[in-house]
Amino acid sequence: MENQRPSWTSRGTFILAAVGSAVGLGNIWRFPYIMGQNGGAIFLVIYLLIIMTICFVPLVAELSTGKITQKECIGAFESVNPKFKFIGALNPITGILIISFYFVVGGWILNYICLGFSKCGISDYGNYFTQFTQAPVANCLYTLIFLFICMFFTARGIKKGIEFANNVLMPLFALILIFLIISSLQLPNAHLGLEYMFKPDFSKINPHMFLVALGQALFTLSIGMGALFTYGSYIKEDSSIAKSAYTIIFSDTFFALLAGIMIFPAIFSFGLQPDSGAGLVFVTLPYIFAQIPNGNLVSILFFFLLAAAAITSGISMLEVSAAVFTERFKLSRIKACVLLFFLISLLAIPATLSFGILGDMKIIGKTVFEFLDFITSNLLMPLNTFFVCILAGWFLKIKGETFLKNKFFAKVFDIGLKYAVPAILLGLLYIGLK
Ligand code: PFF
Repeated sequence: MENQRPSWTSRGTFILAAVGSAVGLGNIWRFPYIMGQNGGAIFLVIYLLIIMTICFVPLVAELSTGKITQKECIGAFESVNPKFKFIGALNPITGILIISFYFVVGGWILNYICLGFSKCGISDYGNYFTQFTQAPVANCLYTLIFLFICMFFTARGIKKGIEFANNVLMPLFALILIFLIISSLQLPNAHLGLEYMFKPDFSKINPHMFLVALGQALFTLSIGMGALFTYGSYIKEDSSIAKSAYTIIFSDTFFALLAGIMIFPAIFSFGLQPDSGAGLVFVTLPYIFAQIPNGNLVSILFFFLLAAAAITSGISMLEVSAAVFTERFKLSRIKACVLLFFLISLLAIPATLSFGILGDMKIIGKTVFEFLDFITSNLLMPLNTFFVCILAGWFLKIKGETFLKNKFFAKVFDIGLKYAVPAILLGLLYIGLK
């Protein structure tokens, strides 16, 4: 079975798929609104600091553990100690929980693409968004279609499915992004948006920002649910994990910045507020699209861009469980995907309906959607990241000197992997669950 494991065609396709996993709704939907709610440029400074330093360690840990063990998540933990397999199993479980709310947003995106084609003039996007998210049948249908699209690529396997999707969607994504940035920067007073992004006001700094920035950085890099772990396990050739990790971090940060450069100038140009939260992309931007020349086309392109990013990330989430089902339970890929489809639907449908008819169904005071987001971001992702660091640092004894030439940085990496990052993650867990 071992030598039947799939592998990447080349280092390039692996990097593209890993960047495709990292660049998603976290960059284009979540990052701008979180930045908008946390003071703009000052948040960016903190975020950059964290993503360039702390996040390098768990990113390398995840990729290396996958590459060294050449196993899906459960098998990798089990190979160190059979008792650890339950810890490994937290990864696909986290993945399924994340998919169940992430794909709801994927469904909204599909709806907005269709809306662009239907050319219907909507005057109040706030109202439209609330009403649409409450509509049970249409909403569930869009969520399931989004799930089906991602599943389609996962079912086709690494080369024909995952590599193909990333090879097509990522260049398209980059092209549309460039076009939209150029359009946004040409709007009157666009410079106000750039000032908001790049002129930090240090008086606004507060400790809460560090927490939000770390949570966002882990989420956007796809750390903590086994996606990069699984992608790393398909690396065969002797490619440098450190270089791959840098490339993923830089590309992801670059795209998050570009998303900001696309969104904030447009918002400031129309005198709107950047801190409207999750509705920024679904309410504020459509309002702007409705005012500009060729707004329908721009809207379709924007939501297509968002869909491309979400699909390449969604595929990586699905692959974690697909790998477990195919390798561990010896199911064919198609069977694994059908099973996953039903399993995910069981959670994704209540999450979708939590904006409408299931709005009153609360778990610890949260709707299903909010609960899934909370439990994964505040508990499971930091916990999984903690366990991967422990596995890599203490059991697999991964050392910085094997991939970092500079002795000082190698030492810092070792301390980070064994002590500092696990301690920070425990702190994050403590504060996140308080
Ligand atoms: N990194 C993705 C984003 O920014 O949207 C989300 C994500 C993908 C999280 C894959 C976790 C994961 F395993």
